[in-house]
Parts: sequence; structure tokens; C-alpha cells
Amino acid sequence: MKILVTGGCGYIGSHTCCELLDSGYEVVIIDNLCNSKEDVVDKIKQITKKEVKFYKGDLCDKDLVDEIFSKENIDAVIHFAGLKAVGESVLKPLLYYRNNLDSTLTLLEIMNKYNCKKIVFSSSATVYGSPKTLPIKEDFPLSTTNPYGSTKLYIEGILKDLYISDNEWSIAVLRYFNPIGAHESGLIGENPKDIPNNLMPYIVRVATGELKELSIFGNDYDTHDGTGVRDYIHVVDLAKGHIKAIEHICKEKGIDYYNLGTGNGYSVLDLVTTFEKVNNVKINYKIVARRKGDVASCYADATYALDKLNWKATKGIEEMCKDSFKFVKNSNKDLNN
Ligand code: NAD
Ligand code: UFG
Repeated sequence: MKILVTGGCGYIGSHTCCELLDSGYEVVIIDNLCNSKEDVVDKIKQITKKEVKFYKGDLCDKDLVDEIFSKENIDAVIHFAGLKAVGESVLKPLLYYRNNLDSTLTLLEIMNKYNCKKIVFSSSATVYGSPKTLPIKEDFPLSTTNPYGSTKLYIEGILKDLYISDNEWSIAVLRYFNPIGAHESGLIGENPKDIPNNLMPYIVRVATGELKELSIFGNDYDTHDGTGVRDYIHVVDLAKGHIKAIEHICKEKGIDYYNLGTGNGYSVLDLVTTFEKVNNVKINYKIVARRKGDVASCYADATYALDKLNWKATKGIEEMCKDSFKFVKNSNKDLNN
């Protein structure tokens, strides 16, 4: 089976390509490299010892997407491509709406044209807004607090309307919680170009000495130590969830929604102390004001994914902390050589 992976050079996409190849799928990537590098394709080949076809280009380019479908005989699509920085989306909403919606509409139109009606979509726990109770179940009310989140919610709506119009579609909407960690090889992972917004990439930069200290956004939340609680999930576990989703949509038509999380909540301080312990480094931090828009706690009820997809996360936060650091140390070593 041949899978088109949009955004396959990115953080979650690259790990998923490795899992797909290891599971015997053929992989075609389209990525415009706006948030990734081409050498990831070689790293995927190095890890899996398999071939990957790479198209460098924009998913909004209808002619290119048409060309890919006409040449490649694609059976199903995993759609990762999109912009994902919450803060930037508030400053540049049109960029986010244009990129994330236009790319998806282009993709879906071409899929329809070639009668390829199986898609796995990367959504986010952000679509739950500020949940009233925890853990979060898939049928909780949906809302968003920023344009990035709105693009996810709109795309979920587009996919639902598409299925209503044509029951031949098989659609899995995966709502990710907080992916961290990296491939055990240390060859692929997440290392943002700019100053990171997310917690783990920031901790790693403090650990390498590139940044002086971590600012912890608030220690007065109603949580066990006052700092924000999230459901961190190892990116390799997350990637494996996509294989299960592909298997499922190949068996059953319909549209369905799955939380991909561990079901466990860890605080900012839990993550900092675990990172220090497993990597034997000191993370300097200071407590600052809460970050606007943050919720106190967010973690998944992941039982639906277990029941329907037979998927469950298996890696703990120690492994997540170890692998995140290993990847960045490895890439810094490459840069210095
Ligand atoms: P990423 O930025 O590492 O990967 C996205 C990839 O898509 C990048 O390689 C980028 O170059 C590419 N891309 C973006 N727009 C494109 C376009 N128009 N045409 C072609 N390529 C394009 O992000 P990620 O962390 O791997 O996230 C993958 C998906 O999962 C995204 O849709 C993101 O919104 C979603 N998601 C991520 C998280 C997270 O915390 N990382 C959480 C929830 C959901
Ligand atoms: N935090 C800090 N200091 C930092 C960065 C983060 O204290 O420098 C805290 C936050 O306040 C929060 C926790 O660490 O309590 C996690 O923050 P992240 O920015 O890493 O993650 P979020 O849960 O805020 O959001 C992320 C993505 C969203 C996505 C959501 C759920 O950025 O796009 O996970 O998947 F929607």
C-alpha cells in the first residue's frame, strides 16, 4: 500500500514515515520545508533502510498535487502539513487560515478526483478549548481560543461535511495531546529554528546552555504543585497510532475521532525534575506570570483509541526526556563537525 504523507519532513510526520516503512508501507512525502529540512528524508532512509519518494512543494499547489496523484497511485493519505505556532497564528491569522485550509481543500479535491477516499488527519487537543472536567473524552464540547485551533476545528468540520456528502470516505481524525521525545536513533526529532514556544524544546535549550533559564508560566494553578499539567506523549507512540488508524480506515468507512494521549498528566515541575534526573543536568528556572490562554490541566481519556484502534501509548516521561535531549545533542554535534 502506498501512503502520501503531507508534511512528512516535520516532527511527527518523519517519525510516522519511519513507522510506515517499518510496517511495510510505501511512502511518498510532500513537504515545502517551511518548518523542516530536506536532510530528514535521508535520515528516514538511514533509519529504515528503505526508499522514500520526496516531492518538495506546497500542498496549496494544485497542479503539483494532481501530478503526484497521477504518477503515484496513492491508496491513502496522512495529512500533517500545516502551520502550528499558536502565538504566531494570533499575529498572522490570514497566513494560518490560508495555509492550513487552502492546503487541505486542495488535497481533498484532488483525492476526490482520483477516487482516493482514505485520510488520517492531524488534529489537536486544542479543539477542546478549556475543558470543564478531566480526563477529556472525544465527545466533549469543542471550541478554540486562537486561529491555529480554529483551523483544526474548521478542517474537522470540512471532513465531516465531506463524509456526509459521500459515505465512501474513510476518515480518522486524531487529536494529539503534547508530543515530545524523539526517535531512539537520535537522528530525527524536534529542534525549532527560533526560540521555542513549547516546554520541552525550551528545557532542552537550557540543558545545552543555549538559553539561560526556563520561565515557568505560573505556580498558582489548582494542580498538585501549582504548575500546569499536560498529557505528554512520546512521538514514537504517537506515530504508531497513525499505523493503527490507517489499518482501521482500510477496513471501515466512516468518520471517527480519537484522542492520542497517555491519559497521564504531568506538571511543568515534574517534567523539569525528570529531565534533570535522567540526563544528569541542571535546568535553571524562574517562576513568572501565567501565560495568557493556558489552562491549568489537560489530559486525555485515551480508552476509545484502545477500544477501536487497539492502540495505547507505552513509553513514559523518562524515555521522553532522555530521547528529546539525545536528539538535540546529536544534531548539535553534527553542526559542530
Ligand atoms: P512540523 O511543523 O514539524 O511539521 C509540519 C510540516 O508541514 C513541516 O515539515 C512543514 O514544512 C510542512 N508544511 C506546512 N505547510 C505546508 C504546505 N502548505 N505544503 C507543504 N508542506 C507544508 O509540525 P508537527 O509537530 O510535526 O505537526 C504535524 C501536524 O500535527 C500539524 O498539522 C500540527 O498542527 C499537528 N499537531 C501538532 C502538535 C504538536 O505539539 N507538535 C500538537 C497537535 C497537533
Ligand atoms: N510552559 C512553561 N514555560 C515555557 C513553555 C511552556 O512553563 O517556556 C508551560 C505551559 O504554561 C504549559 C506547559 O508548559 O503549562 C506546556 O506548554 P506547551 O507550550 O509545551 O504546550 P501547550 O499545552 O500549551 O500546547 C501544545 C501545542 C498546542 C496544542 C496543545 C495540545 O502548542 O498547539 O499542545 O496538543 F494544541
